[in-house]
Amino acid sequence: MLNFRYIVFHIFIAAVLTATGSVTFAQNKYEEHLKSSFKHLQSNLNRNDISAGVVIASPSTNSPNYFYHWVRDAGLTMMEITSLYGLPMRVEEKQTLERQIRHWIQFETQNQNIALQNSTLGEPIFTVRGAIYPYPWGRPQNDGPAIRALAMLNYTDSLIKENRANELSQFYRAEMPANSVIKRDLEYVAHHWNDQGFDLWEEVKGLHFFSRMAQQAALIRGAKLAERMNDSGAAGYYRSVAATIRKTIYEHINQGLGYIVPTLSQTDGWRHKTSQLDVSILLASLYFSTDDGFFGPEDQWVKATAEKLENAFVKIYAINSNMTLGPAIGRYPEDVYNGAGSGEGNPWFLATAAYAEFYCRLAGKMTAQKDVIKTKEKALSYFNRIIYHTAPNGHMSEQFNRHNGYNQGAFDLTWGYVSYIRAFRACADNSSIFATLSSF
Ligand code: NOJ
Ligand code: NOJ
Repeated sequence: MLNFRYIVFHIFIAAVLTATGSVTFAQNKYEEHLKSSFKHLQSNLNRNDISAGVVIASPSTNSPNYFYHWVRDAGLTMMEITSLYGLPMRVEEKQTLERQIRHWIQFETQNQNIALQNSTLGEPIFTVRGAIYPYPWGRPQNDGPAIRALAMLNYTDSLIKENRANELSQFYRAEMPANSVIKRDLEYVAHHWNDQGFDLWEEVKGLHFFSRMAQQAALIRGAKLAERMNDSGAAGYYRSVAATIRKTIYEHINQGLGYIVPTLSQTDGWRHKTSQLDVSILLASLYFSTDDGFFGPEDQWVKATAEKLENAFVKIYAINSNMTLGPAIGRYPEDVYNGAGSGEGNPWFLATAAYAEFYCRLAGKMTAQKDVIKTKEKALSYFNRIIYHTAPNGHMSEQFNRHNGYNQGAFDLTWGYVSYIRAFRACADNSSIFATLSSF
Protein backbone atom coordinates (compact mmCIF):
# COMPACT_ATOMS: atom_id res chain seq x y z
CA MET A 1 0.00 0.00 0.00
CA LEU A 2 2.91 2.33 0.43
CA ASN A 3 4.51 3.97 -2.50
CA PHE A 4 7.70 4.43 -0.60
CA ARG A 5 9.94 2.35 1.53
CA TYR A 6 10.70 4.92 4.12
CA ILE A 7 10.83 8.56 4.74
CA VAL A 8 14.28 9.98 4.70
CA PHE A 9 14.76 12.74 7.14
CA HIS A 10 17.17 15.41 6.13
CA ILE A 11 17.86 16.80 9.46
CA PHE A 12 20.29 19.60 9.77
CA ILE A 13 21.25 19.31 13.32
CA ALA A 14 24.90 20.00 12.86
CA ALA A 15 24.32 23.66 13.49
CA VAL A 16 22.42 22.96 16.66
CA LEU A 17 24.95 20.83 18.37
CA THR A 18 28.20 22.06 16.96
CA ALA A 19 27.66 25.72 17.62
CA THR A 20 30.32 25.30 20.26
CA GLY A 21 32.48 23.02 18.23
CA SER A 22 32.79 20.38 20.87
CA VAL A 23 29.65 18.29 20.68
CA THR A 24 28.71 16.73 17.45
CA PHE A 25 25.55 14.94 16.62
CA ALA A 26 26.11 15.39 12.96
CA GLN A 27 27.95 12.19 12.36
CA ASN A 28 26.07 9.98 10.02
CA LYS A 29 25.56 7.11 12.37
CA TYR A 30 22.79 8.83 14.32
CA GLU A 31 20.97 9.77 11.14
CA GLU A 32 21.52 6.33 9.67
CA HIS A 33 19.97 4.84 12.75
CA LEU A 34 17.05 7.19 12.45
CA LYS A 35 16.44 6.04 8.89
CA SER A 36 16.66 2.39 9.75
CA SER A 37 14.40 2.84 12.78
CA PHE A 38 11.81 4.53 10.61
CA LYS A 39 12.14 1.83 7.98
CA HIS A 40 11.68 -0.99 10.50
CA LEU A 41 8.74 0.81 12.08
CA GLN A 42 7.14 1.12 8.67
CA SER A 43 7.66 -2.53 7.87
CA ASN A 44 5.86 -3.49 11.08
CA LEU A 45 2.92 -1.34 9.99
CA ASN A 46 2.82 -2.43 6.35
CA ARG A 47 2.57 -6.17 6.04
CA ASN A 48 0.39 -8.25 3.81
CA ASP A 49 -0.64 -10.57 6.63
CA ILE A 50 -2.39 -7.84 8.64
CA SER A 51 -4.85 -5.12 7.69
CA ALA A 52 -3.84 -1.50 7.67
CA GLY A 53 -4.33 0.09 11.06
CA VAL A 54 -3.12 -2.88 13.08
CA VAL A 55 0.06 -2.11 15.03
CA ILE A 56 1.82 -5.31 16.01
CA ALA A 57 4.06 -4.99 19.04
CA SER A 58 6.67 -7.05 17.18
CA PRO A 59 6.67 -9.52 14.27
CA SER A 60 7.77 -12.25 16.69
CA THR A 61 5.18 -15.04 16.81
CA ASN A 62 6.80 -17.27 19.37
CA SER A 63 9.05 -16.96 22.37
CA PRO A 64 7.56 -14.43 22.84
CA ASN A 65 4.43 -14.10 20.77
CA TYR A 66 4.08 -10.35 20.32
CA PHE A 67 2.09 -10.63 17.11
CA TYR A 68 -0.78 -8.74 18.70
CA HIS A 69 -2.12 -5.24 18.85
CA TRP A 70 -1.46 -3.77 22.31
CA VAL A 71 -3.49 -0.60 22.78
CA ARG A 72 -0.57 1.01 24.68
CA ASP A 73 2.18 0.18 22.15
CA ALA A 74 -0.09 1.14 19.25
CA GLY A 75 -1.10 4.40 20.91
CA LEU A 76 2.49 5.39 21.68
CA THR A 77 3.41 4.57 18.10
CA MET A 78 0.58 6.69 16.79
CA MET A 79 1.51 9.52 19.14
CA GLU A 80 4.78 9.62 17.22
CA ILE A 81 3.29 9.12 13.75
CA THR A 82 0.84 11.96 14.42
CA SER A 83 3.73 14.17 15.60
CA LEU A 84 5.68 13.39 12.44
CA TYR A 85 2.56 14.15 10.45
CA GLY A 86 2.67 17.67 11.88
CA LEU A 87 6.15 18.30 10.42
CA PRO A 88 6.61 19.91 7.05
CA MET A 89 6.94 17.34 4.30
CA ARG A 90 5.81 16.67 0.76
CA VAL A 91 2.11 16.17 0.24
CA GLU A 92 2.47 12.59 -0.90
CA GLU A 93 4.28 11.49 2.24
CA LYS A 94 1.90 13.42 4.40
CA GLN A 95 -0.98 11.56 2.82
CA THR A 96 0.68 8.26 3.51
CA LEU A 97 1.10 9.08 7.20
CA GLU A 98 -2.48 10.31 7.31
CA ARG A 99 -3.73 7.06 5.82
CA GLN A 100 -1.90 5.16 8.52
CA ILE A 101 -3.44 7.33 11.21
CA ARG A 102 -6.94 6.97 9.81
CA HIS A 103 -6.67 3.22 9.43
CA TRP A 104 -5.48 2.92 12.99
CA ILE A 105 -8.42 5.04 14.19
CA GLN A 106 -10.79 2.77 12.26
CA PHE A 107 -9.26 -0.31 13.82
CA GLU A 108 -9.45 1.18 17.31
CA THR A 109 -13.08 2.16 16.77
CA GLN A 110 -13.81 -1.48 16.01
CA ASN A 111 -11.79 -2.56 19.04
CA GLN A 112 -13.77 -0.18 21.23
CA ASN A 113 -17.05 -1.65 19.97
CA ILE A 114 -15.96 -5.19 20.72
CA ALA A 115 -14.54 -4.24 24.09
CA LEU A 116 -17.73 -2.40 25.07
CA GLN A 117 -19.87 -5.41 24.18
CA ASN A 118 -17.76 -7.92 26.07
CA SER A 119 -15.54 -6.21 28.60
CA THR A 120 -14.38 -2.62 29.18
CA LEU A 121 -12.28 -0.10 27.30
CA GLY A 122 -9.42 -1.10 29.60
CA GLU A 123 -8.99 -4.21 27.42
CA PRO A 124 -5.23 -4.17 26.74
CA ILE A 125 -4.61 -6.46 23.75
CA PHE A 126 -6.41 -7.36 20.52
CA THR A 127 -5.58 -9.99 17.96
CA VAL A 128 -4.56 -8.76 14.54
CA ARG A 129 -8.05 -9.72 13.37
CA GLY A 130 -9.63 -7.43 15.96
CA ALA A 131 -10.77 -9.88 18.63
CA ILE A 132 -10.15 -9.49 22.34
CA TYR A 133 -7.00 -11.37 23.40
CA PRO A 134 -8.58 -14.69 24.35
CA TYR A 135 -6.38 -15.73 27.32
CA PRO A 136 -6.14 -14.72 30.95
CA TRP A 137 -4.06 -11.55 31.24
CA GLY A 138 -3.43 -8.60 33.50
CA ARG A 139 -6.61 -6.62 32.86
CA PRO A 140 -7.77 -3.98 32.81
CA GLN A 141 -4.89 -1.72 31.80
CA ASN A 142 -6.19 1.79 32.15
CA ASP A 143 -3.35 3.67 30.49
CA GLY A 144 -4.48 2.43 27.06
CA PRO A 145 -7.61 4.54 26.46
CA ALA A 146 -5.81 7.69 27.62
CA ILE A 147 -2.84 7.10 25.32
CA ARG A 148 -5.15 6.28 22.43
CA ALA A 149 -7.04 9.54 23.01
CA LEU A 150 -3.79 11.53 23.20
CA ALA A 151 -2.63 10.24 19.83
CA MET A 152 -5.98 11.05 18.27
CA LEU A 153 -5.89 14.52 19.85
CA ASN A 154 -2.52 15.14 18.16
CA TYR A 155 -4.23 14.37 14.89
CA THR A 156 -7.29 16.54 15.53
CA ASP A 157 -4.94 19.40 16.50
CA SER A 158 -3.33 19.04 13.08
CA LEU A 159 -6.71 19.07 11.38
CA ILE A 160 -7.51 22.34 13.15
CA LYS A 161 -4.18 23.82 12.01
CA GLU A 162 -4.93 22.72 8.47
CA ASN A 163 -8.32 24.47 8.55
CA ARG A 164 -10.13 21.16 8.37
CA ALA A 165 -12.22 21.62 11.51
CA ASN A 166 -15.25 20.40 9.57
CA GLU A 167 -13.79 16.89 9.85
CA LEU A 168 -13.55 16.91 13.64
CA SER A 169 -17.03 15.52 14.19
CA GLN A 170 -15.82 12.20 12.76
CA PHE A 171 -13.79 11.84 15.94
CA TYR A 172 -15.58 13.80 18.63
CA ARG A 173 -19.29 14.49 19.09
CA ALA A 174 -21.04 15.75 22.21
CA GLU A 175 -23.73 13.03 22.15
CA MET A 176 -24.22 10.81 25.16
CA PRO A 177 -23.90 7.94 25.55
CA ALA A 178 -20.63 8.66 23.82
CA ASN A 179 -20.47 7.18 20.37
CA SER A 180 -17.45 8.97 18.93
CA VAL A 181 -14.02 7.47 19.26
CA ILE A 182 -12.30 10.19 21.31
CA LYS A 183 -15.20 10.96 23.60
CA ARG A 184 -15.64 7.28 24.42
CA ASP A 185 -12.10 7.09 25.70
CA LEU A 186 -12.37 10.36 27.59
CA GLU A 187 -15.57 9.25 29.29
CA TYR A 188 -13.98 5.96 30.24
CA VAL A 189 -10.91 7.74 31.64
CA ALA A 190 -13.02 10.26 33.56
CA HIS A 191 -15.10 7.50 35.19
CA HIS A 192 -12.49 4.80 35.76
CA TRP A 193 -9.18 6.54 36.47
CA ASN A 194 -9.46 5.58 40.13
CA ASP A 195 -10.07 1.86 39.47
CA GLN A 196 -7.16 -0.42 40.15
CA GLY A 197 -5.62 -1.69 36.95
CA PHE A 198 -2.44 -3.36 35.75
CA ASP A 199 0.64 -1.26 35.13
CA LEU A 200 2.32 -0.74 31.79
CA TRP A 201 4.58 -3.75 32.46
CA GLU A 202 1.46 -5.88 33.01
CA GLU A 203 2.64 -7.19 36.37
CA VAL A 204 1.26 -5.06 39.18
CA LYS A 205 -2.36 -4.20 39.91
CA GLY A 206 -2.90 -0.88 41.61
CA LEU A 207 -2.88 2.84 40.82
CA HIS A 208 0.06 3.95 38.75
CA PHE A 209 1.96 7.17 38.15
CA PHE A 210 2.31 6.27 34.47
CA SER A 211 -1.41 5.68 33.92
CA ARG A 212 -2.44 8.71 35.95
CA MET A 213 -0.09 10.98 34.01
CA ALA A 214 -1.60 9.71 30.75
CA GLN A 215 -5.13 10.12 32.11
CA GLN A 216 -4.77 13.71 33.31
CA ALA A 217 -3.06 14.72 30.06
CA ALA A 218 -5.81 13.14 27.96
CA LEU A 219 -8.53 14.90 29.96
CA ILE A 220 -6.83 18.30 29.84
CA ARG A 221 -6.22 18.10 26.12
CA GLY A 222 -9.59 16.47 25.51
CA ALA A 223 -11.35 19.33 27.32
CA LYS A 224 -10.02 21.76 24.72
CA LEU A 225 -11.52 19.75 21.91
CA ALA A 226 -14.77 19.31 23.83
CA GLU A 227 -15.04 23.07 24.15
CA ARG A 228 -14.53 23.53 20.46
CA MET A 229 -17.20 20.95 19.75
CA ASN A 230 -19.81 22.83 21.81
CA ASP A 231 -19.56 20.37 24.64
CA SER A 232 -18.64 22.79 27.40
CA GLY A 233 -20.33 20.72 30.10
CA ALA A 234 -18.01 17.83 29.28
CA ALA A 235 -15.02 20.18 29.04
CA GLY A 236 -15.66 21.42 32.57
CA TYR A 237 -16.11 17.91 33.83
CA TYR A 238 -12.89 16.64 32.19
CA ARG A 239 -10.96 19.57 33.64
CA SER A 240 -12.24 19.02 37.13
CA VAL A 241 -11.46 15.29 37.02
CA ALA A 242 -7.99 16.09 35.67
CA ALA A 243 -7.42 18.40 38.66
CA THR A 244 -8.42 15.60 41.03
CA ILE A 245 -6.11 13.13 39.29
CA ARG A 246 -3.27 15.61 39.64
CA LYS A 247 -3.72 15.65 43.40
CA THR A 248 -3.32 11.89 43.49
CA ILE A 249 -0.21 12.10 41.30
CA TYR A 250 1.55 14.15 43.99
CA GLU A 251 1.00 11.26 46.37
CA HIS A 252 3.56 9.28 44.35
CA ILE A 253 6.32 11.51 45.68
CA ASN A 254 8.01 9.56 48.41
CA GLN A 255 9.88 12.09 50.55
CA GLY A 256 11.66 9.40 52.54
CA LEU A 257 13.05 7.64 49.50
CA GLY A 258 13.68 10.90 47.68
CA TYR A 259 11.95 9.93 44.45
CA ILE A 260 8.65 9.19 42.72
CA VAL A 261 7.23 5.69 43.19
CA PRO A 262 5.33 3.94 40.40
CA THR A 263 2.41 2.29 42.21
CA LEU A 264 0.10 3.02 45.15
CA SER A 265 -2.75 0.97 46.61
CA GLN A 266 -1.60 -2.30 45.11
CA THR A 267 -4.32 -4.98 45.24
CA ASP A 268 -2.86 -7.76 43.14
CA GLY A 269 0.08 -8.87 41.02
CA TRP A 270 3.77 -9.15 41.75
CA ARG A 271 5.36 -7.59 44.84
CA HIS A 272 9.00 -7.88 43.93
CA LYS A 273 9.79 -4.23 43.19
CA THR A 274 11.35 -3.51 46.56
CA SER A 275 13.31 -0.41 45.49
CA GLN A 276 10.18 1.14 43.95
CA LEU A 277 12.39 2.60 41.29
CA ASP A 278 10.93 2.34 37.79
CA VAL A 279 11.72 3.88 34.41
CA SER A 280 7.97 4.27 33.90
CA ILE A 281 8.26 7.54 35.86
CA LEU A 282 10.61 8.97 33.26
CA LEU A 283 8.54 7.58 30.39
CA ALA A 284 5.41 9.20 31.83
CA SER A 285 7.19 12.51 32.19
CA LEU A 286 8.41 12.44 28.58
CA TYR A 287 5.24 11.13 27.01
CA PHE A 288 2.54 12.87 29.00
CA SER A 289 3.80 16.18 30.31
CA THR A 290 1.43 19.01 29.43
CA ASP A 291 2.18 22.57 28.32
CA ASP A 292 2.25 23.78 31.91
CA GLY A 293 5.18 21.46 32.66
CA PHE A 294 3.39 19.29 35.22
CA PHE A 295 5.95 16.61 36.15
CA GLY A 296 7.82 17.34 32.95
CA PRO A 297 11.49 16.42 32.48
CA GLU A 298 12.60 19.52 34.37
CA ASP A 299 10.72 18.60 37.51
CA GLN A 300 13.06 18.08 40.49
CA TRP A 301 11.41 14.81 41.46
CA VAL A 302 11.52 13.43 37.96
CA LYS A 303 15.20 14.30 37.77
CA ALA A 304 15.93 12.73 41.15
CA THR A 305 14.11 9.56 40.12
CA ALA A 306 15.96 9.35 36.81
CA GLU A 307 19.33 9.78 38.55
CA LYS A 308 18.68 7.17 41.24
CA LEU A 309 17.51 4.68 38.66
CA GLU A 310 20.49 5.30 36.44
CA ASN A 311 22.84 4.69 39.36
CA ALA A 312 21.09 1.45 40.18
CA PHE A 313 21.55 0.12 36.64
CA VAL A 314 25.19 1.17 36.55
CA LYS A 315 25.72 -1.19 39.47
CA ILE A 316 23.73 -4.20 38.32
CA TYR A 317 24.40 -4.55 34.57
CA ALA A 318 27.84 -5.92 33.75
CA ILE A 319 27.93 -4.16 30.37
CA ASN A 320 27.75 -0.85 32.19
CA SER A 321 31.33 -1.23 33.30
CA ASN A 322 32.10 0.24 29.87
CA MET A 323 31.61 3.85 30.80
CA THR A 324 32.69 5.29 27.46
CA LEU A 325 29.04 4.70 26.58
CA GLY A 326 26.03 5.95 28.54
CA PRO A 327 24.60 3.40 30.97
CA ALA A 328 22.25 0.78 29.54
CA ILE A 329 18.84 1.19 31.19
CA GLY A 330 16.21 -1.40 32.04
CA ARG A 331 12.64 -1.23 33.33
CA TYR A 332 13.45 -1.48 37.04
CA PRO A 333 16.25 -3.06 39.07
CA GLU A 334 14.35 -6.16 40.25
CA ASP A 335 13.07 -7.08 36.78
CA VAL A 336 13.23 -10.81 35.99
CA TYR A 337 11.59 -10.79 32.54
CA ASN A 338 14.18 -11.93 30.01
CA GLY A 339 12.03 -11.24 26.98
CA ALA A 340 10.48 -14.69 26.76
CA GLY A 341 9.97 -15.82 30.33
CA SER A 342 11.40 -15.58 33.78
CA GLY A 343 15.14 -15.28 34.28
CA GLU A 344 17.25 -12.19 34.47
CA GLY A 345 16.01 -8.74 33.51
CA ASN A 346 18.01 -6.79 30.96
CA PRO A 347 18.38 -3.32 29.57
CA TRP A 348 15.74 -2.24 27.05
CA PHE A 349 16.30 -0.05 24.00
CA LEU A 350 13.18 1.99 24.72
CA ALA A 351 14.32 2.74 28.28
CA THR A 352 17.81 3.71 27.16
CA ALA A 353 16.37 5.92 24.40
CA ALA A 354 14.22 7.62 27.03
CA TYR A 355 17.39 8.87 28.74
CA ALA A 356 18.68 10.24 25.43
CA GLU A 357 15.39 12.09 24.97
CA PHE A 358 15.41 13.23 28.60
CA TYR A 359 18.85 14.85 28.47
CA CYS A 360 18.16 16.53 25.14
CA ARG A 361 14.94 17.99 26.45
CA LEU A 362 16.74 19.23 29.54
CA ALA A 363 19.51 20.74 27.43
CA GLY A 364 16.85 22.52 25.37
CA LYS A 365 15.79 24.45 28.46
CA MET A 366 19.26 25.46 29.62
CA THR A 367 20.88 28.79 28.99
CA ALA A 368 24.46 28.55 30.22
CA GLN A 369 26.53 27.27 27.31
CA LYS A 370 28.63 24.96 29.44
CA ASP A 371 25.56 23.27 30.91
CA VAL A 372 24.09 22.80 27.46
CA ILE A 373 27.26 21.14 26.22
CA LYS A 374 27.57 18.88 29.23
CA THR A 375 23.96 17.77 29.01
CA LYS A 376 24.08 17.14 25.28
CA GLU A 377 27.21 15.09 25.73
CA LYS A 378 25.32 13.02 28.23
CA ALA A 379 22.45 12.55 25.75
CA LEU A 380 24.89 11.52 23.07
CA SER A 381 26.38 8.88 25.34
CA TYR A 382 22.98 7.14 25.36
CA PHE A 383 22.69 7.32 21.59
CA ASN A 384 26.12 5.73 21.42
CA ARG A 385 25.01 2.99 23.80
CA ILE A 386 21.97 2.22 21.66
CA ILE A 387 23.91 2.15 18.42
CA TYR A 388 26.64 0.01 19.94
CA HIS A 389 24.16 -2.75 20.82
CA THR A 390 22.06 -2.51 17.67
CA ALA A 391 22.22 -5.65 15.52
CA PRO A 392 23.34 -5.44 11.86
CA ASN A 393 21.01 -3.52 9.54
CA GLY A 394 19.61 -1.47 12.38
CA HIS A 395 17.61 -4.24 14.02
CA MET A 396 16.67 -3.69 17.64
CA SER A 397 14.96 -6.26 19.84
CA GLU A 398 13.10 -5.40 23.01
CA GLN A 399 16.15 -6.01 25.19
CA PHE A 400 19.91 -6.47 25.04
CA ASN A 401 21.68 -8.86 27.33
CA ARG A 402 23.07 -7.38 30.54
CA HIS A 403 26.26 -9.48 30.33
CA ASN A 404 27.13 -9.68 26.65
CA GLY A 405 25.06 -6.88 25.13
CA TYR A 406 23.44 -9.01 22.44
CA ASN A 407 19.84 -8.50 21.34
CA GLN A 408 17.27 -10.52 23.21
CA GLY A 409 13.49 -10.85 23.44
CA ALA A 410 10.93 -9.81 20.84
CA PHE A 411 12.79 -8.77 17.68
CA ASP A 412 12.01 -5.49 15.92
CA LEU A 413 9.91 -4.14 18.78
CA THR A 414 7.74 -1.35 17.32
CA TRP A 415 7.85 0.74 20.49
CA GLY A 416 11.67 0.60 20.55
CA TYR A 417 11.97 2.14 17.08
CA VAL A 418 9.43 4.77 18.05
CA SER A 419 11.54 5.63 21.10
CA TYR A 420 14.65 6.20 19.03
CA ILE A 421 12.75 8.47 16.63
CA ARG A 422 11.34 10.43 19.59
CA ALA A 423 14.79 10.83 21.10
CA PHE A 424 16.25 11.96 17.82
CA ARG A 425 13.53 14.55 17.38
CA ALA A 426 14.15 15.87 20.87
CA CYS A 427 17.81 16.35 20.02
CA ALA A 428 17.25 18.04 16.71
CA ASP A 429 16.08 21.61 16.41
CA ASN A 430 12.47 21.45 15.28
CA SER A 431 12.72 24.52 13.14
CA SER A 432 15.63 23.01 11.31
CA ILE A 433 13.92 19.71 10.68
CA PHE A 434 12.20 18.98 7.50
CA ALA A 435 11.12 15.63 6.40
CA THR A 436 11.27 14.56 2.82
CA LEU A 437 9.94 11.52 1.21
CA SER A 438 12.13 9.73 -1.19
CA SER A 439 10.24 7.37 -3.37
CA PHE A 440 12.18 4.41 -4.59
C1 NOJ B 1 4.71 -10.54 29.76
C2 NOJ B 1 4.61 -9.06 29.98
O1 NOJ B 1 4.30 -8.44 28.81
C3 NOJ B 1 5.89 -8.57 30.59
O2 NOJ B 1 5.89 -7.19 30.73
C4 NOJ B 1 6.04 -9.24 31.91
O3 NOJ B 1 7.22 -8.84 32.53
C5 NOJ B 1 6.02 -10.74 31.74
N1 NOJ B 1 4.86 -11.16 31.02
C6 NOJ B 1 6.03 -11.38 33.09
O4 NOJ B 1 6.01 -12.74 32.96
C1 NOJ C 1 5.77 -6.23 27.49
C2 NOJ C 1 5.86 -4.86 28.06
O1 NOJ C 1 6.07 -4.96 29.44
C3 NOJ C 1 4.59 -4.10 27.80
O2 NOJ C 1 4.74 -2.78 28.26
C4 NOJ C 1 4.28 -4.08 26.34
O3 NOJ C 1 3.03 -3.46 26.13
C5 NOJ C 1 4.26 -5.48 25.75
N1 NOJ C 1 5.44 -6.20 26.12
C6 NOJ C 1 4.16 -5.45 24.24
O4 NOJ C 1 5.27 -4.78 23.71
